Amino acid sequence: MVTSAAPRHAAPPVHAGPARMTATPPPIPTLLDSDVVRPAPPASRAIKAQVENFSFFYSTVQALADVSLPFRERAITALIGPSGCGKTTLLRCFNRMHDLYPGNRYVGRILLHPDNLNIVAREVDPISLRMRISMVFQKPNPFPKSIFENVAYGLRLRGIRSRSELEGRIQVALEDAALWGEVKDRLRKPAYDLSGGQQQRLCIARALANEPEVLLLDEPTSALDPIATSRIEDLIVELKERVTIAIVTHNMQQAARISDYTAFMYLGKLIEYGATAEVFQNPKCKETEDYVTGRFG
Ligand SMILES: Nc1ncnc2c1ncn2[C@@H]1O[C@H](COP(=O)(O)OP(=O)(O)OP(=O)(O)O)[C@@H](O)[C@H]1O
Ligand SMILES: [Mg+2]
Repeated sequence: MVTSAAPRHAAPPVHAGPARMTATPPPIPTLLDSDVVRPAPPASRAIKAQVENFSFFYSTVQALADVSLPFRERAITALIGPSGCGKTTLLRCFNRMHDLYPGNRYVGRILLHPDNLNIVAREVDPISLRMRISMVFQKPNPFPKSIFENVAYGLRLRGIRSRSELEGRIQVALEDAALWGEVKDRLRKPAYDLSGGQQQRLCIARALANEPEVLLLDEPTSALDPIATSRIEDLIVELKERVTIAIVTHNMQQAARISDYTAFMYLGKLIEYGATAEVFQNPKCKETEDYVTGRFG
């Protein structure tokens, strides 16, 4: 589906070139001229997770300041913003990765629905939380084990011992991650033998095997070629029917192509949140407009 909304912005200024340039360069296509932005999703989608007046401190360094942001069910939310604005920090709060370092501090709440669980509350067990919320990192990080054992890892943690059940679930996870066809004859081979794109799909399969409710993706395609990127984008769009997805990306086309909602962050704050089509075509804030049109960041 494409949107027919007319862009209201002119193309961003082209950086002044050397004086000797005489021919007028062709206009740079911008996202605001693009027809790839998805239409607004129904606003009625239930909220799966709600970040509420949330701040985070790396000891004395404040990385997030009073962020409030919903993540809707069966939708993809893109987190965008310049380097260092706190995107990874926020994702890592969701599965309590920061607990490993004493001195780190969560302030405010991140509520996981339907049970209204405050996932940053001290009494919530991070291990059981990670069964519900899985994360895939920017750099593929398979374990130094076989392809089979990588996907089996979470299943074994959950107490699944039956060989036939493990095999069945591993096949489903690898099929879901669009990797099964490429690895079904070498499941016992080391995961490190796979290409980067395959390793990233393996990490997605490992995350999916746990049947998470929320999938966090931190720049999952930044190290991949266009073909692998496109496969993973297709996969993410398919997955949203059954898992709530948050994706961090620096690729504005990617955010526009696959996400339903977009949150723009800057200097640890949430600047703007809305349906992706709105944020890209009619941003409310000047900073958002500058960022999505490539004027800064
Ligand atoms: N372990 C840490 N200790 C102290 N400060 C940190 C730590 N990790 C990150 N920061 C700081 O927190 C801020 C947010 O970092 P974060 O990695 O979340 O940014 P980001 O938006 O993911 O950036 P990028 O797009 O470059 O990945 C930055 O100022 C960063 O320097
Ligand atoms: Mg990051």
